[in-house]
Amino acid sequence: MAKFDVQAFRELFPLINNSSEVDSLIYFDNAATTQKSAQVIQAYQDYYHNINSNVHRASHQLSAKATLLFEHARKQVQHFLNAKHIQEIIWTKGTTESINLVAQSWGRTNLGKGDEIVLSHAEHHANIVPWQLVAEQTGAVIKVLPLTASGIIDLPSINDMITTKTKMVSISHISNVVGKVNPVKEVVQRAKEVGALTLIDGAQAVGHQKVDIQKLDCDFYVFSAHKMFGPTGVGVLYGRRSELEKMPPYQGGGEMIKKVTFEKTSFNSLPFKFEPGTPNISGIIAFSAALTMHEQLDNQAITNYERSLTQYCYQQLTSIKELSFICQHCPDIPVFSFQINAHHNHDVATALDAKGIAVRTGHHCAMPLMQYLGLEGCIRISLAAYNTFEEVDQVIDILKEIITPKERDTKTIDDIKNESTESDEYQSVIERFKSINSWDARHREIMLLGKRLNKLSVDKRNEETLITGCESNAWLYSEQNSSGQFYFTADSDAKVIRGLLVIVLAAFNGKNAQQILAFNVKDYFENLGLIKHLSPSRSNGLTAIVERVKRLAGG
Ligand SMILES: Cc1ncc(COP(=O)(O)O)c(C=O)c1O
Repeated sequence: MAKFDVQAFRELFPLINNSSEVDSLIYFDNAATTQKSAQVIQAYQDYYHNINSNVHRASHQLSAKATLLFEHARKQVQHFLNAKHIQEIIWTKGTTESINLVAQSWGRTNLGKGDEIVLSHAEHHANIVPWQLVAEQTGAVIKVLPLTASGIIDLPSINDMITTKTKMVSISHISNVVGKVNPVKEVVQRAKEVGALTLIDGAQAVGHQKVDIQKLDCDFYVFSAHKMFGPTGVGVLYGRRSELEKMPPYQGGGEMIKKVTFEKTSFNSLPFKFEPGTPNISGIIAFSAALTMHEQLDNQAITNYERSLTQYCYQQLTSIKELSFICQHCPDIPVFSFQINAHHNHDVATALDAKGIAVRTGHHCAMPLMQYLGLEGCIRISLAAYNTFEEVDQVIDILKEIITPKERDTKTIDDIKNESTESDEYQSVIERFKSINSWDARHREIMLLGKRLNKLSVDKRNEETLITGCESNAWLYSEQNSSGQFYFTADSDAKVIRGLLVIVLAAFNGKNAQQILAFNVKDYFENLGLIKHLSPSRSNGLTAIVERVKRLAGG
């Protein structure tokens, strides 16, 4: 059997391949989006350099060329899914839009009061909210399938949950948090027995598994190109032709019509009935390049490689005794969700980020799953075929280091406490960061500063002092003396936020309202070299803290 050449595969992806000693990247956030190959990037260039024109409508050769490539991509998707008819492949902008299309077009026509839509507890918000919207519009109700301890749909429950009242069963092929394949065929079979339709959210499956629509026999299958090395802004809705033909258009506009008069409009045939307006031509043509790469890969070799990478990563993570997986058993695709005892998810992710390792924390757009499992969130590392065993080893080493920090990370706290008094705190923060260059060193400094923040007493950690907008919790308490100077105390459950709070408070403590309102926090953080390292969620958290400070000062 041919062996998968991971080094050759890495070389196809500039962002992976360009990772260097100095600016190293281990990209373990592939469930959010995968990297793009040079061919995909080149396809954009080629289209805009040589072919740019609108598809289908024009009577010139350039448009004929663009249309040919555009429709070739559709053919590739048909082949990729093994769909019976090309008319069953509808372009959308992503999984989310594909589900909204079905929920609104099919749902509003076919659902009525008391009809049931069956989902599972492990769905992405994209496969929950569109159904909630249509349930509100039609009076339908949502039922939720329970999960096993390994996080997949509990098969014994399906007979009771999927009944003659069920009109639609919409579940993920593979959850973006659990990483295990759901018993999709059995669920589809049960839905058929009661006359319900099925939608399978394949967002996490398409990048890792061969999908055969005819074997699955579902009515709808949806996915996004960006999860399988393709571009963002391109998605697919596969729909069984007989169902799509009965469904009304989702949106109106050009291209989706046959004839328009002010009295009546007749609609175009499939698939165009569902593709109003100018589509994402360049994106779809770039996606074609990703599909060509998939066609050329040795599927068995890449599957074998991913499987052994998954098992290896699982074993290595299991060796960390402080780590607990949110679901039992090794996942089927390399998506691992876990928590580390006594370490806030946020802190783990920031510490990894400081070493150039990209992972994701939070609820992963699956808040109901987090509630079901009794968690606030978790850390997720998700790998793709360009990731290596060595990268896994490096991440494991760093996780171990985070859990048991080396001496250099802990020893200076007493020194730090003695280094400055409150009055020169602001200057001391500036001095401290002035001579540091790397994000790793800045991160260490933030963590050290965090240690010097006194814990806020329990009575001061209440609804009033709580700051929303952070992934972690933060509390801010303020006092003002008779001369109008403000003194803030603060706390957070994440160490990194505690460090950032010290930095923020150093700028505001002892100032009056006018000084606080006039202070430019953005410049301050820019000068400290922190802005570019703060992820959007941490940056939002920080903004929320600063806004609260300014509001307390009367802003
Ligand atoms: C299982 C699942 N469904 C739906 C989505 C939504 O995909 P998109 O944002 O590309 O529409 C995602 C994205 O992470 C996902 O993992």
